[in-house]
Amino acid sequence: MAERLAEPGAATDSSDLLAIAVPVARRAADLVRELRARGVADVDTKSTATDLVTAADRAAERLIVDLLREARPTDLFLGEESGAHRAVDAAPTGVRWVIDPIDGTVNYVYGLPHYAVSIAAEVGGVAVAGVVRNAASGEEWTAVRGGGAWREGRRLAGSPVTELGQALVATGFGYDAHRRAHQARVLAHLLPAVRDIRRFGASSLDLCAAAEGRVDAYFEKGLGAWDHAAGGLIAEESGLWVTGLRGVAPGPLMVLAAPPALHRDLHDLLVTVDADGGP
Ligand code: IPD
Ligand code: CA
Ligand code: CA
Repeated sequence: MAERLAEPGAATDSSDLLAIAVPVARRAADLVRELRARGVADVDTKSTATDLVTAADRAAERLIVDLLREARPTDLFLGEESGAHRAVDAAPTGVRWVIDPIDGTVNYVYGLPHYAVSIAAEVGGVAVAGVVRNAASGEEWTAVRGGGAWREGRRLAGSPVTELGQALVATGFGYDAHRRAHQARVLAHLLPAVRDIRRFGASSLDLCAAAEGRVDAYFEKGLGAWDHAAGGLIAEESGLWVTGLRGVAPGPLMVLAAPPALHRDLHDLLVTVDADGGP
């Protein structure tokens, strides 16, 4: 049965924003799963020949924006597929919804059960509520700023590993060949220094995995805001430090999420190998 959505304009605080986002993420994840069962449709390319978008990405984003607008008609939206927009010309509420309708589209296309709906609410440019739901498995992670990170009623606390040499580190690669060549050089330096590397193919889920201690840390260059807005908050609320390099905020040049005990060593190694440089 469909969950009831919040009354229009009712929410102002982070918990209320999360209460709006969660049922929307669930409905979008249901849609994505149903569409996948019918077969992948309308696969197009975006920035490069390996950067894919499908009918399901577009349909899920439409559904998410429509449902959020019913509850919050005057907020701003940033969706991976529809860009930045607002529904009506009204005084700004200060709330912006940042949406990745399917994070892990390549996994979705190949039928690998590792793709997610990611929705964050920002207030004044800072993520205050976020939900990431694996559409294939139904696993769901949530956080509100200051309220911890959660999965199925369990509070998350990241990994207890303290040595970089013992760390399982997740990462991802961009869609541009030149950027990938640089990322491959970074990896060549990193791989001998850590337990191992994982590349799962969905940055939001990588951040949730780090929040949960399923990996010890995560880093990636070249993410869009929709890739890390919700997962970054969930990682931060689990106690991880979520940063860029050299004091820069997490963003397009670098998102690094690591427990405090691992953060400095991984940060310094990434600086040494110019992980936020290159194309
Ligand atoms: C991608 C995934 C991938 C990451 C890429 C992202 P998409 O998002 O999160 O893991 O390495 O940088 O662009 O295109 O599947 O939404
Ligand atoms: Ca993404
Ligand atoms: Ca996407």
